[in-house]
Amino acid sequence: MDSKYSLTNNSNVRLISTNFATKRKTEAVKSDMDVKNKFTYPLSTPQNTVPVVPASKRNCVGQQKTSLPVYNCRHRILKEIECNDTVLIMSETGSGKTTQIPQFLLHEGYAKSNMIGITQPRRVAAITVAKRVAQELSSSVGDIVGYTVRFEDLTSKNTKIRYLTDGILLRESIEDRLLLKYSVIILDEAHERTVNADLLFGIVKEAQKERSRKNLATLKIVITSATMDIDHFGKYFKCKGLYLEGRTHPVRVLHAKEPHDDYIHALLVTLFYIHRTEPINHDVLIFLTGQEEIEALARQIRTLSKINVNGTTNVRVCTMYAQLSHNMQLECFLPCPSNVRKIVLATNIAETSITIPGIRCVIDCGFVKEKYFNSVDGIDILKTVRISRAQAWQRTGRAGRDAPGICYRVYTKSEMDSFMNLTQPEILRTNPTSTVLHLLAMDVDCNNFDFLDAPLEESLTSAYRSLSGLGAIDYGSISCITPLGRLMSQYPLDPKYSKLLISASKVGCMEEMLRLVSVLSSDNIFISSIAKNELASLAHAKFSSKHGDHLTLLNVFNLFLKTDQQKVWCQDNYLNYRSLIYARNICRQLSEISERLGLTINSSENIESFKKCLLSGFFENIAILQKDGSYLTCSGNLKAKIHPSSVFHLKYKPKCILFTHFVQTDNYYLRLVTDIHMDWAKELVPSLRSQNKILNNC
Ligand code: CDP
Ligand code: MG
Repeated sequence: MDSKYSLTNNSNVRLISTNFATKRKTEAVKSDMDVKNKFTYPLSTPQNTVPVVPASKRNCVGQQKTSLPVYNCRHRILKEIECNDTVLIMSETGSGKTTQIPQFLLHEGYAKSNMIGITQPRRVAAITVAKRVAQELSSSVGDIVGYTVRFEDLTSKNTKIRYLTDGILLRESIEDRLLLKYSVIILDEAHERTVNADLLFGIVKEAQKERSRKNLATLKIVITSATMDIDHFGKYFKCKGLYLEGRTHPVRVLHAKEPHDDYIHALLVTLFYIHRTEPINHDVLIFLTGQEEIEALARQIRTLSKINVNGTTNVRVCTMYAQLSHNMQLECFLPCPSNVRKIVLATNIAETSITIPGIRCVIDCGFVKEKYFNSVDGIDILKTVRISRAQAWQRTGRAGRDAPGICYRVYTKSEMDSFMNLTQPEILRTNPTSTVLHLLAMDVDCNNFDFLDAPLEESLTSAYRSLSGLGAIDYGSISCITPLGRLMSQYPLDPKYSKLLISASKVGCMEEMLRLVSVLSSDNIFISSIAKNELASLAHAKFSSKHGDHLTLLNVFNLFLKTDQQKVWCQDNYLNYRSLIYARNICRQLSEISERLGLTINSSENIESFKKCLLSGFFENIAILQKDGSYLTCSGNLKAKIHPSSVFHLKYKPKCILFTHFVQTDNYYLRLVTDIHMDWAKELVPSLRSQNKILNNC
């Protein structure tokens, strides 16, 4: 088996100091000269590089802290932050950026009157890192160290270090553009370049400038990553970049010798090779692209692992993907008995910031699913594409978090050479509607915003068109947000969903819409369609609405809220209890926001008004039945099928439907659909009527 893989360089390959990072380092040194010593680089000399500490000596959290590379550089880090208002810090994964730098700042007195905020691209990272740091400070989460993620806030008046998702900080910036709660903001994992992070780069830069102009307390900004384009960031922030040398644990990197057409098969073969040859307590993390692939492989591994003499298994398979309930995601972090191997199947959600205890082997498929927006079609599509080299190294890094590890790449060295260096910023490939609305709510015109990389002109035009259709901006005046637009921006939701709520309040079905939007914002409430057996299908059929998936979801949630024995009821009906509880919490919070905004929470059983309300938000998501049985979307004229998870699948084909998501897997699919009347579409969306041939011809 080993002969199928070849080693990258030599057996002592260490993260970051190999290929990509070395190249980056060299580039940065070059540009250091070019930009006249704007960069001090590298920070640490070989003398202060931290030696690798044997695992046996790293058994307590306190000891572990002091052995981390950033610990040795703490004086220099603090000095740089003291002397400069903005600092970029780059060091390899696992060196202590996310967990240690906030603590250095805390001990240095940066949180005396205001907080230290650290943003994370994902909620699972914010939660797990906050727990770890609270433990390191012998405190409990919510006290000195807390976290805030969407619909969940575990902070108190004592909180000095606050981990939060970039989305949360962005929302706070609407209310408080100067971000006065914070003395320091650390924008972590900058290389991920999420839309939210990109907006925050501009917002914190502006807040810092304004605070200085108004003689208010200085806002220190720290940007951290293992793989960021330090040159690009350095120019944008006009600041220094520090490269902290030193490594934690070595990771051997093995590439496939031959390209594989079927990477799932290759992953499976590799996994069982590891299972035969590696000690049982060496856990494995496998990177895949999405839920369906993960669930299918999980079942296959569970089945295969039971094929032994007595039918028992010595593996525990855990899964981690965005649609999974958050508590289920956290199960991957629980320790396993010493005679059981943990196998975690994850999407890129496990790629940065997190440490899953026990992981010693990583298997990387080399692909990722990403959202792409086509401004001509006006539709977001999820596509499977090659990862970037930066992502490959981040994935590799997950194997060396708490001990030396090994990473199997199911792609060849030369395949990797064709990968892009860095991931394309999300802002350049996704729908910027929320971004534009957010900036307008801050009275900032997109054309005047200081973007690190500005969205494409045609994407912005498409976003203005959508916002105008939603009534969030004045027709013809792109920079003028309407009162409705301001209301919409107050919800932590996509503008389409906020519009649903505001329309519902007007027509009298707010209670129902609050419930539906909450379910849509939670995780999948049905136990995975793939794992679903006939009994589950029968149980789910009870909730089916002849109107479609939206009313089916509402039926489930309404019954759940009425039930006393909710947990048992969910088990009996193959429903995800945690997702429904989460939806209940979201509903409570959305109701509070609505009340604060002065919206009436009314209720009605009128299905027609409810569906028309749906159309007020999803007016761009209409599709018409074609002669061949497929559907043609009104925006973009794309041919697609109803998703197999729909209540309509193989049963009924309405003439005109509204859909929530457009997905691309083996085919184009429309997910979560509702039967609508053709005339409503024409009545409610006059622009479509005049612009769209398909609708006019119906
Ligand atoms: O941010 P960076 O990748 O530089 O490192 P970090 O997240 O601050 O983690 C530093 C070290 O702390 C890791 O290498 C792990 O050994 C340990 N850690 C952990 O054991 N459990 C966590 N939840 C987080 C970190
Ligand atoms: Mg980190």
